[in-house]
Amino acid sequence: MNIGVVIPAAGSGKRMKSDINKQFLLLDGSPILAHTISKFKQYKKIAEIVTVLRMEDFSYFQNNILNKYKCEDIKVIAGGKTRRESVYAGILSFSPAIDYVIIHDGARPLVSKNLIIRVIEAMEKFPAITTGVPAKDTIKYIDKDLFVKETLNRDKLYYIQTPQAFRYDILKNAHEKVKAEINITDDASLVEMMGQKVKIIDGDYENIKITTPIDLKMAEFLLSEGKE
Ligand code: CTP
Ligand code: MG
Repeated sequence: MNIGVVIPAAGSGKRMKSDINKQFLLLDGSPILAHTISKFKQYKKIAEIVTVLRMEDFSYFQNNILNKYKCEDIKVIAGGKTRRESVYAGILSFSPAIDYVIIHDGARPLVSKNLIIRVIEAMEKFPAITTGVPAKDTIKYIDKDLFVKETLNRDKLYYIQTPQAFRYDILKNAHEKVKAEINITDDASLVEMMGQKVKIIDGDYENIKITTPIDLKMAEFLLSEGKE
């Protein structure tokens, strides 16, 4: 198994409302993205790591992360307008030796090493995997005027996270075959649309995505708790 990791980090972080790319905001003194990348180093089966960035963020990465956090062996490429385009650019950048892919949001710096190990182990058994956790809230399906259409059965609902992992050919094929106009927020959706079964393995509630300012505060807190 030769695994390539794609870290999509080419978003503009609109909901974070900060001046710099949210992935460069500091968490415990280091850029969020440096935390995320560092988690994927040191696994024998991970042969390549590519980070996908907006062109305008290249120089910040080079000046503030590359040397300081020993990321010289991390490939950096330009992303696209959507997360989907950014991930696709990432998988195309791998050498032909890569036969499995892990996708992990740059904005999820609290992914644990234990979770990465669980994902790699599950990849031996399942060709398409997402991590996720059982929904804690009641979730309702709504119409455009914000009236409830339906209450979904919580026992059957999962919050979906990254890492997600796929056999390379399955993921590439899904990116190429599913219509570009279809708006998706994760790679598993594309693979599902191709009729591929996706296995959910246990994620971590702590593996939050830094999306709004409150998430950054939560992440600081979770990190400080973990140190005790
Ligand atoms: N992403 C990407 N390329 C894009 C859009 C998003 O690589 N064109 C990445 C983000 O950088 C992030 C991950 O996909 O690590 C999840 O996206 P999200 O949390 O939505 O980040 P942003 O799109 O940056 O934030 P927002 O939606 O608030 O603008
Ligand atoms: Mg987004």
